[in-house]
Amino acid sequence: MAFKTLDDLLAQGVESRHVLVRSDFNVPLDKDGNITDPGRITSSLPTIKALVDGGAKVILTAHLGRPKGEVNEKYSLAPVAEALSEALGQYVALAGDVVGEDAHERANGLNDGDVLLVENVRFDPRETSKDEAERGAFADELVSLAADNGAFVSDGFGVVHRAQTSVYDVAKRLPAFAGKLVEKEVNTLAAVAKNPESPYVVVLGGAKVSDKLGVIEALAGKADHVIIGGGMCYTLLAAQGYDVQNSLLQEDQIDNCKELLERFGDKIVLPVDLVAASEFAADAEHKVVGLDGIPEGWESLDIGPESVKKFGEVIAKSKTVFWNGPMGVFEMDAFSNGTKGVAQAIIDATKNNGSFTVVGGGDSAASVRRLGLDEDGFSHISTGGGASLEFLEGKELPGVSILEA
Ligand code: 3PG
Repeated sequence: MAFKTLDDLLAQGVESRHVLVRSDFNVPLDKDGNITDPGRITSSLPTIKALVDGGAKVILTAHLGRPKGEVNEKYSLAPVAEALSEALGQYVALAGDVVGEDAHERANGLNDGDVLLVENVRFDPRETSKDEAERGAFADELVSLAADNGAFVSDGFGVVHRAQTSVYDVAKRLPAFAGKLVEKEVNTLAAVAKNPESPYVVVLGGAKVSDKLGVIEALAGKADHVIIGGGMCYTLLAAQGYDVQNSLLQEDQIDNCKELLERFGDKIVLPVDLVAASEFAADAEHKVVGLDGIPEGWESLDIGPESVKKFGEVIAKSKTVFWNGPMGVFEMDAFSNGTKGVAQAIIDATKNNGSFTVVGGGDSAASVRRLGLDEDGFSHISTGGGASLEFLEGKELPGVSILEA
C-alpha cells in the first residue's frame, strides 16, 4: 500500500512531539457500562506503546456508540480510559471534553511518553457532519491540540470506512501515517480482496438483511459460495416460501431477496434446519425443527445441527474464508451452537486445508472470544466489521485513501 507508516514516523523521531492518534475504541458495553470485549483496546496497544517508547506526547481520539452529536454520559470514554490504563500499564488521562479548555490544558501539559484520551469525538456534531466546512473547522480544532510539531496516526481500522473528521479531515492537515493496526489490516485484507484463492467461501450472519443485500450481491460476484445464517437468513427463507413465524423478518425485503436468489441461487447456501424457541429468552423452550416446522408463534434463534454440517462441508473444501456475523443469538448458550459449529469448521479448514481464514468484525470477533474458541485458529481476526466488509466488496475506504493521497 502506498502510504507512510508508523515506522516512517518513528524513523523521523517523535520525541517531545504531539502525535494525534485516531483509534477505534468502540467496544461493547453491558447494561452497567462494563466492557464485555476489550479486543479493540488490545489491538490498539502496539501503536500506542511504540509512540510512548519513542517519547511522543500521545493524544488519542475515538468514538463510542452513536451519541448523535450530543454529550451523553452513557457514551463517555471513561470505561475505555480505565481499561486502557490497565492494559498499557500507565495512566491514561481522560479529558472532560473533546476540543475544549480541558483537552487543551491537558494536551499542553503532557510530558514525553504521556498518553491523553479526549472525550468521545461524536459528542461534537461536526465529527459526522456531511458539510465539509463544518468538519474542517472541527479538524482545525483537533489539530490545534497537537501544537508541538504535530503528526497524525490513523489506527482505528474499524472506522476507516467513515469520512469523518477525526478519521479523514485531520489527515489532510497533519503529516499522516498508518498505525500498526491499520497497516496490518489493510495488507492482510488486500490479499483476500485482490486475489482470493479458490474455493472462496463467504459466511454472512447478523441481524438485518437490508444492511447486507448489497454486500451479498457484491461478494456473490467474487466468491464461489456465500453461506447465510443468523437473523438475515429468515427473510431469504421467507422469499423461498417458508413460514418463518415470529423469526426476524424484513417483509419489505422479500422481493429483493427473491431477485437475489434468482441471480445467485447457485452460490447462496442457506440453512436446512433451525433451532426454534417459544420466545426470545435464554431459558425459552426450544427444539430443532425443519425449515417448515417452526411452531406457530415461535421464532428461530439459531441454525440447526444439519445446517452446521452442511455449512461445514462447504467450508472444509475452502482455500479462502471470510466470515462476518454470528449464525444465531450466540450470547444465549442454547442458541450458540450454530455460531460455535461454523467457527470451529473455519478453524479446522485453516488447520487441515491450509485455508486462509478471516473473521471480520466486532460481533464475530467477540463471539469467537465469548465461545472460548482458539483465536489463533484463524489466519486473521479483523477489528473492523463494516470496514472489512466494504474493503472486501472492493469499495474505497476514505480513511485509507486519504493516507495514500
Ligand atoms: C464499528 O463498530 O464498526 C466501528 O467502530 C464504526 O462504528 P459506526 O458504525 O458507528 O461508525
